[in-house]
Amino acid sequence: MSKANFITKEFGSYKPYSINEYISVGGFKGLKKALSQGYEKTIEDVSASGLQGRGGANYPTGKKLAQARSAKGYGNRYVLCNADEGEPGTFKDKYLLLNGIYQVIEGIIIAGYCAGANKGYIYVREEYTFMHKDIEYAISQVYKKGGLGENILNSGFNFDLKLFSGGGSYICGEGFAMCESIEGKSGRPRSKPPYVKECGLFNDPTLVINTETVSVIANLMKYSVEEFVSYGVEDCPGTKMISVSGNVSNPGVFEVEFGTSLKKIVQMAGGNIEDVKFLQIGGASGAIISSKLLNAPYTYSGMKKVMGSIGSGAVVVCDKTVDVIEYLAVVEEFFHHESCGKCVPCREGNRQLSLIMQRLKTKKAKINDLRNYVKIVNALDASLCGSGRTQIVPFVTAYRYFMNDFKSKIQGV
Ligand SMILES: Cc1cc2nc3c(=O)[nH]c(=O)nc-3n(C[C@H](O)[C@H](O)[C@H](O)COP(=O)(O)O)c2cc1C
Ligand code: SF4
Repeated sequence: MSKANFITKEFGSYKPYSINEYISVGGFKGLKKALSQGYEKTIEDVSASGLQGRGGANYPTGKKLAQARSAKGYGNRYVLCNADEGEPGTFKDKYLLLNGIYQVIEGIIIAGYCAGANKGYIYVREEYTFMHKDIEYAISQVYKKGGLGENILNSGFNFDLKLFSGGGSYICGEGFAMCESIEGKSGRPRSKPPYVKECGLFNDPTLVINTETVSVIANLMKYSVEEFVSYGVEDCPGTKMISVSGNVSNPGVFEVEFGTSLKKIVQMAGGNIEDVKFLQIGGASGAIISSKLLNAPYTYSGMKKVMGSIGSGAVVVCDKTVDVIEYLAVVEEFFHHESCGKCVPCREGNRQLSLIMQRLKTKKAKINDLRNYVKIVNALDASLCGSGRTQIVPFVTAYRYFMNDFKSKIQGV
């Protein structure tokens, strides 16, 4: 069980920005199928595939589409394709935009159809500005072919799509922060409830969905649910895009079957198992786990068992030359820098954690620093959005698996 290709099946066999070549490899067959079988059956198919959102929260996509459809609204209904991809070490959505933009667009239209939406945005990370023109060109080509606009492929369904350049902040990947950003405000989360699905962009029902998730939806319709679930393992069917970086000789993006071991993933990217000290799985807010756990299967439950999660699909490999405390200090700097400052636990907690990490790094920490570290990390759980709330994971896991590394940095211990 290793490399697979369900999502990326046609990648490389056509010019990514040629709509005619995309159509020649079966492009838009999925959309046609969805439109002809109706939204209810399409949502049913997505549910049957067991697909869980690929943006990090793992929410079942079929359920999400059904909830989007039934959300009460009296004006516009939106789909926001999340291509903000701000988690360090995460670059699989960039790969999908570069190699399969029409598949992404096709998936967004199908998601919009299921949700009963009439408008959509691809919210693209500001740092991906170099792709904006190409993405806008691809959208214009889909309009020309009748895949966007009024009465799409003579189905009676109307849907418009635009690109929106991200606000340049990690937090803009959070659903409400993204809505605020598109509305022209600074990207900061709102309190819940109400939820984005009911009261999102311009207070209208909004479906926020990840770039990989829509790419899977397009191919679920084009091929079949049966084919998708023939990959992976029983409790976790299908394939997953991952980005592997760090101390490996062949970093990059891979499509793997769920159930592939972490060991195999490291090897796939040219890493030497003997040299690995730890991995960080799932992005900056993902678990930092010891090399002793490399036999764990890459599945939602497999990662949970090692206190981790699939998260953003990032796998960062660190060898024995990497100091786990220094690594964690970089992670902390990221969260400190990216905190939007709206809530106290995250704003003040990160300020203090940052100081503690600096003292640990320079071996100036005292035992009280370690006690405060644990208290602050736990207090972050009371943060307003997922950024603060999930930040606990790398800190707790690093502490659990590398306690001696912490102790070695403390004076008098
Ligand atoms: C701070 C923060 C940053 C996020 N960044 C992203 C992101 O870059 N891309 C993404 O797809 N989801 C991101 N999410 C998750 C989204 O809020 C949302 O759950 C996701 O886009 C839903 O799509 P899915 O159901 O397909 O996973 C982020 C969440 C938080 C709290
Ligand atoms: S947890 Fe951090 S990023 Fe999220 S709202 Fe609070 S301050 Fe902003």
